[in-house]
Amino acid sequence: MRKPSKCAGSENKREMKTEILQPTEESVRTCARYIGRGGVVAFPTETVYGLGADAFMPDAVREIFRIKGRPNDNPLIVHVFSPEQIEDVAQDISPLARKLMQSFMPGALTLVLKKKKGVPDCVTAGLPTVGVRMPSNPVCRKFLRACARPICAPSANTSTKPSPTTAMHVWNDLNGKIPYVLDGGSCEIGLESTILDVSSDVPKLLRQGGIPKEELERVCGMSVPVQAGGTVALCPGMKYKHYAPKADVLFSAYYASMVATIAKRYDMLVLQGKNPVILCLHANAEKYGARHIFDMGENYDSYAGKLFACLRQADDEKFDTVIAEGVSSDGIGAAIINRLVKSSGGKII
Ligand code: TXA
Ligand code: MG
Repeated sequence: MRKPSKCAGSENKREMKTEILQPTEESVRTCARYIGRGGVVAFPTETVYGLGADAFMPDAVREIFRIKGRPNDNPLIVHVFSPEQIEDVAQDISPLARKLMQSFMPGALTLVLKKKKGVPDCVTAGLPTVGVRMPSNPVCRKFLRACARPICAPSANTSTKPSPTTAMHVWNDLNGKIPYVLDGGSCEIGLESTILDVSSDVPKLLRQGGIPKEELERVCGMSVPVQAGGTVALCPGMKYKHYAPKADVLFSAYYASMVATIAKRYDMLVLQGKNPVILCLHANAEKYGARHIFDMGENYDSYAGKLFACLRQADDEKFDTVIAEGVSSDGIGAAIINRLVKSSGGKII
């Protein structure tokens, strides 16, 4: 016999219908109340949608892993409303970490800090550190303020799928598994936060993301080494398959004759009976002639903003191969490259 659970998230699992809620004061309160009863809801941030629970309710936290199909050795980021809440989950915060908080919070930066004893192990996957982030999205801030508790959350996708950047993406992945998705529209940045480990003397960049490395280095006053490989426990999530649509993803390196190489590969795939689509910057769109393209906009910010949505759209429109234009590693370009390398499984042309 199954043991009945007190967790709100496991009530009526079968019958549960997922509602997308417009972000009124009342629906924000509804979501916060549900969190308070040990439930799990999805909420917007400026990076991607999150799947949240009270960080101090282990049953609720475990429910996140179950709903997402996430391996439990992959820790969650704790989302806070205020600097004071950071003190509830972290300790021994260095002067450099405080400087980074002042410069980038609220915003798309996650700091890995020494964790406070009371933070449940299921949040941090048993690590002595905790990832903390203070989102800037106004709907998210209303939600976090109403919860009045640190909220741990991974991205609100099914594990391995591209992260969700609209409420509808969340609904498509998790319909029937959570009661509410708080709708904040399209995420402004569209790629996840940058993760910087400041739990020891030398800051380490664990994940490229919404805040470019150059900006962090300006504030740190030193160069910030990128954690090579990412397979060790420092950032456990990096070893898993990520951001993968059903379609095959190919990703071009960034060089002068990239457009010609991509066009040639596209034509070859068509000859093989494939149905490819090209992700390209607006400036290159016409160069691909009648080939199928998704226009990623004028610059790297728009490319980042549309990337996950376009990977999902490729599946919806039954394209079987995505060929993505490469970008330079300037600014958010580094994060675009990182996500494309991962979603292509390293298939670079
Ligand atoms: O923008 C974001 O960061 C989004 C939104 C929802 O805030 N969240 C997000 O969460 O991307 P998730 O779970 O998809 O990715 C979190 C990453 C994982 O790779 C995990 O291993 C790493 O953060 N992480 C979490 N806590 C950590 C810690 N204490 N030390 C090292 N890495 C950590
Ligand atoms: Mg994720």
